[in-house]
Amino acid sequence: MISALTTLGGEASGDGPNPFRAGMRRSRAPEPATLVIFGATGDLSRRKLLPAVFGLWQDGLLGSAFNIVGVGRQEMSDEQFKDYAIEALRTSKETDAPQPGSLEKFRELLYYEFGDFAADDVYGRLKTQLDEAEDAHGGRKNALFYLSTPPSLFEPISNGLGRLGLQDESEGWRRIIIEKPFGRDLASARHLNDAIHAVWNESQVYRIDHYLGKETVQNLMAIRFGNAIFEPLWNRSFVDHIQITNAEDLGLEGRAGYYEEAGVVRDMLQNHLMQVVAITAMEPPAAFDADSIRDEKVKALRAIRRIPLERVPEVAVRGQYGPGTLDGEHVPGYREEPNVGPGSSTPTYVAVKYEIDNWRWQGVPFYVRSGKRLPKKTTEIAVVFKRPPLGLFPGGLERNVLAFRIQPDEGVSLKFSSKTPGQENVLREVIMDFRYDAFGAQLESPYSRLILDAMVGDATLFPREDEVDQAWQIVSGILEAWDSASPHHTQPDFPNYQAGTWGPKEAEELLGPDRRWRRL
Ligand code: BG6
Repeated sequence: MISALTTLGGEASGDGPNPFRAGMRRSRAPEPATLVIFGATGDLSRRKLLPAVFGLWQDGLLGSAFNIVGVGRQEMSDEQFKDYAIEALRTSKETDAPQPGSLEKFRELLYYEFGDFAADDVYGRLKTQLDEAEDAHGGRKNALFYLSTPPSLFEPISNGLGRLGLQDESEGWRRIIIEKPFGRDLASARHLNDAIHAVWNESQVYRIDHYLGKETVQNLMAIRFGNAIFEPLWNRSFVDHIQITNAEDLGLEGRAGYYEEAGVVRDMLQNHLMQVVAITAMEPPAAFDADSIRDEKVKALRAIRRIPLERVPEVAVRGQYGPGTLDGEHVPGYREEPNVGPGSSTPTYVAVKYEIDNWRWQGVPFYVRSGKRLPKKTTEIAVVFKRPPLGLFPGGLERNVLAFRIQPDEGVSLKFSSKTPGQENVLREVIMDFRYDAFGAQLESPYSRLILDAMVGDATLFPREDEVDQAWQIVSGILEAWDSASPHHTQPDFPNYQAGTWGPKEAEELLGPDRRWRRL
């Protein structure tokens, strides 16, 4: 039971508050509220959400009164959940260094409810919790519901909250964050949208994509629209092509149950990477607010050419890793991972060529690749410019590249040619580099950013229903062609890349004879 007014997170001292959050306390202080995490004892909550919320609270960003109710199917008392959460904070690498006594204070904010998500009891008890929080929260019943559960539970939980009227905003705001994947294809995403909208207004719905919370993804917009020198070059007159790479060295990490169903297209391409494509391709928004930005992203997504089934082999490549070596260690192939069948045809790698039919991008391909068990973890967006029109210098002329490193080693670099010192006019490529660590602070977790945004009602960094729909439309040709029931399906010869390499060789061919993937 929520009984006492919960105190503001400790004033930052010691190492000091995160400078990236400086000034936010005044401009973005949320009203008193309860954060309800469904799936509170799950992996995402333990590794990311609890540390993110703790960091915000410790920096004093969660307002004058705040508490968390964890909800799960597992039976647990409040005390057991408190122990669980504090242990998660102590062991997670993502937890900000706790100030003396702050873990103990944070512990007081935590409560737990358990039950069957299809029945009414658990929602009834939650309603009582929120009613009781009212006094502590200055008469407001604000609540943010975070659905960090398997996707099959999104609809039952939303319905359960609706049956008990927990979406009703007459005594305080009510918002719902829905994790990915939002649907498993276009039809199921639309069904889920309808089911959610039967209970919530779109303005209450926050579909989360943690890539949008990454500082460097947002910086792409800042650099494009906050400088005079980039935007004039950002079009088909100057750009040869765009390359977006998302490489992970990790394999399955024990997630076979989920991943065997999802594969790389549903896990990464439909959501995170389509969002990055949209931000790279969009027009400047009329204003920097949620709907202006999301309108432009939708316009860009709508202009991406749909891929008919018979063209999929020309524009998309899939792969699955076999055994190999990473960091000098042998790692098993996908089919040898625990709980994966020996004949699994789930792709762990995808490379795709998108064409965008609009004035800005006509004829400029966007190449996007994502894979597990590649040589290293790295995500970048590279704008590859056309070659200079005239060969005044000996040797081939290289293309300039403006590269945005999303992670790790966040930064922006510009590759261009310079004369090498000496009597001869010989050019060599050089790199001008900006690194985020020049700001002298750790980047904050995308989940902190996004949870705070949802608490202050800022939906800018959350994909709207039409964006999700467009993204499904774009990938659905690929999914259909690769479905074993499709007449266009040919069983791929998996595994077709070794763990620790850059993916199948067909991915190189996708770029044609005059282009190649960047060596990262
Ligand atoms: C998740 C995917 O959404 O993103 C994972 O389900 C993937 O498979 C992860 O590993 C990558 O996120 P990040 O932030 O580490 O690039």
